[in-house]
Amino acid sequence: MTTSKAIILAGGNGTRLYPATRAVSKQLMPVYDKPMIYYPISTMMLAGIRDILIVSTPRDLPLFRNLLGDGSQWGLNFSYIEQTAPRGLAEAFILGQPFIGGSNVAMILGDNLYHGQGLQPLLRAAAAKETGATVFAYHVANPERYGVVAYDAQGIPIDVVEKPKVPPSHWAVTGLYFYDNDVINIAHTLTPSARGELEIADINRAYLRDKKLEIVPLGRGFAWLDTGTHESLADATDFVRLVEQRQDIKIGCPEEIAFNQGLIDAERVLKIAAESGQTPYAAYLKRLVEGN
Ligand code: TTP
Repeated sequence: MTTSKAIILAGGNGTRLYPATRAVSKQLMPVYDKPMIYYPISTMMLAGIRDILIVSTPRDLPLFRNLLGDGSQWGLNFSYIEQTAPRGLAEAFILGQPFIGGSNVAMILGDNLYHGQGLQPLLRAAAAKETGATVFAYHVANPERYGVVAYDAQGIPIDVVEKPKVPPSHWAVTGLYFYDNDVINIAHTLTPSARGELEIADINRAYLRDKKLEIVPLGRGFAWLDTGTHESLADATDFVRLVEQRQDIKIGCPEEIAFNQGLIDAERVLKIAAESGQTPYAAYLKRLVEGN
């Protein structure tokens, strides 16, 4: 069964962005010209997924509902669920069990941004897989901040280690995961780690043990940014601004993806443009449908 459902994890405390996030969710902060959550939504749309569950805190979930509604404005179907405390990424599959049902499921972190030529086919291939799991690895300067892949001498992945003090490689596991339906059972077997969280690395390790984990490297042609610190958030804003201004394209524009995929018509795009004021975003949407 191919992956038709996705979870966006948009909870957490965002403590590394204090005081900016004291009153409002990190994933609602702007990354240049749009709310952060537009980027992971766009990534899931590029994977061909329309049914999306948004997980956030009791404080912030109403704000996401306000911003995103039922998803029909983009031809999508959004559901919402509270995570009452940040008990870890893997809890998403327990909270999300009724939403997932018997399907395969993708999960993306609400503060992760992906961009690059050829991303869509990679996402589509991961979503098309019937069984097993797919994650993506990215060469980073600071692997100790992430789940890191350990490889043997032949380059075969042998382990995934969460935030290691001595990283076994520079390949970080990024915040985008595709799983078959076994992920629900695996999540139920987990116990909290030393930091009190249900760890996504433990799920990946379970798939790896069963030789069912595909780790796809994202090479030089891709940008993977996370936005959890003031520095990385500013970097992401700079990146998006630079590319958007230089190329006159948008990164993470759900209306554009929906229009290109035939999920919404020109009239709908123009309506959203009209509601977006005298902004460059509105002008872009108008140009998109008027073709100039
Ligand atoms: P983190 O960046 O690890 O945590 P955080 O967002 O709470 O930030 P900080 O460390 O500054 O306090 O989380 C990664 C992503 O996962 C982020 O989008 C928040 C989300 N998340 C949840 O939704 N639930 C959780 O239980 C955890 C741990 C994270």
